[in-house]
Amino acid sequence: MPVPLSPEVLRAFIESDEAPSAHLDMLNAISFRTAGAGLRLGVFEALADGPLPVTTIAERVGVDPLGLRLLLDALVGFNYLTHTDGTYANSANTTRWLLRSVPDSFAPVLSFWSTVLTELWGDLESSIRQGGPTGDFYAWLERRPETLRDFQTMLRRLSGWLAEEVITLVPAPPANGRLLDLGGGHAGYTAAFCAAYPQLRATVLDLPGALAQGRAVVDTAGLADRVELRPGDLLTADLGTGYDLVLLFNIVHGYDERQVAALLDRVAAALNPGGRVVLLEPLAEVPQRPPGVADAFVRAFSLNLFHTQGGRAYAFDELAKLLTEAGFDEPEERMLTRSDADHLVLATRA
Ligand SMILES: C[S@@+](CC[C@H](N)C(=O)[O-])C[C@H]1O[C@@H](n2cnc3c(N)ncnc32)[C@H](O)[C@@H]1O
Repeated sequence: MPVPLSPEVLRAFIESDEAPSAHLDMLNAISFRTAGAGLRLGVFEALADGPLPVTTIAERVGVDPLGLRLLLDALVGFNYLTHTDGTYANSANTTRWLLRSVPDSFAPVLSFWSTVLTELWGDLESSIRQGGPTGDFYAWLERRPETLRDFQTMLRRLSGWLAEEVITLVPAPPANGRLLDLGGGHAGYTAAFCAAYPQLRATVLDLPGALAQGRAVVDTAGLADRVELRPGDLLTADLGTGYDLVLLFNIVHGYDERQVAALLDRVAAALNPGGRVVLLEPLAEVPQRPPGVADAFVRAFSLNLFHTQGGRAYAFDELAKLLTEAGFDEPEERMLTRSDADHLVLATRA
């Protein structure tokens, strides 16, 4: 959590420039790292039922008591924990957001980004020097089942928040239509489209590990007879033909322009004439987006995409040009009221 600051101290660091803001960033980076450790070691879960002394927490999570005490004291300084009468407790914000049992828990997000920043951002300078990623992000993810689960859980929960509005913004596919969800992993969007259009049949194509949550979502929704979960590489797989709707949700930002162009050509070939491709993307250069959390996130996320995958957040005009070159008509942008970061881009196969 950001270091708690009095208004005077905040003014000195942020407004009057009497003190270096980077000092706050340094502390906040340490705060983020210690929170990741608290989460991974199971500290917050150990305190879920109430305050405990350090020795009991150390026994429960199986770690060194001195090391743990120093971590807990740091977490108290950052307001993740409180310390009273020799016992430690989760702060109200930790109880509300970081326990895994909370339905909209932030734990998968914190856990995922903590792993990315500690394992993958150590050589950030290298990708910028060499002009491309230093590894294969999705191969890395498929080798880490817990991080993959956090990643897909984070995206599935976001789909639970956005899908309802997305469906109102995408024109209805024809009756008995066919949908292809490329990189659809957790299948949250496919399940929502199938619920909205009871005759729709769908294929979700993704890497094998990513489809594990998709299987659970499809089975729970009773959609096993309408949704095919197809393991494969979306860059090389034969996509087939005859689709009315292709979803590219949070996909093209993982690729450079040449790869996006090649993918859109294959998507156009898979669609029926008049069929539609829909992209869901955190768009760059959105004039209406207010400065603040969403804007800062999209900028940082774009850098992360370049570093880990060789992609970036694209501006609408860039995507519109790529879509037009691939044979799509009149690309359109749709704002979402439920997110300042994410936008829809729709286009129709000529
Ligand atoms: C950022 S996630 C988006 C998931 C989902 N479409 C959404 O918007 O919530 C990207 C998805 O693409 C999948 N993916 C990445 N590279 C892939 C590849 N080469 N072939 C198939 N799927 C891939 C990932 O496994 C992941 O599920």
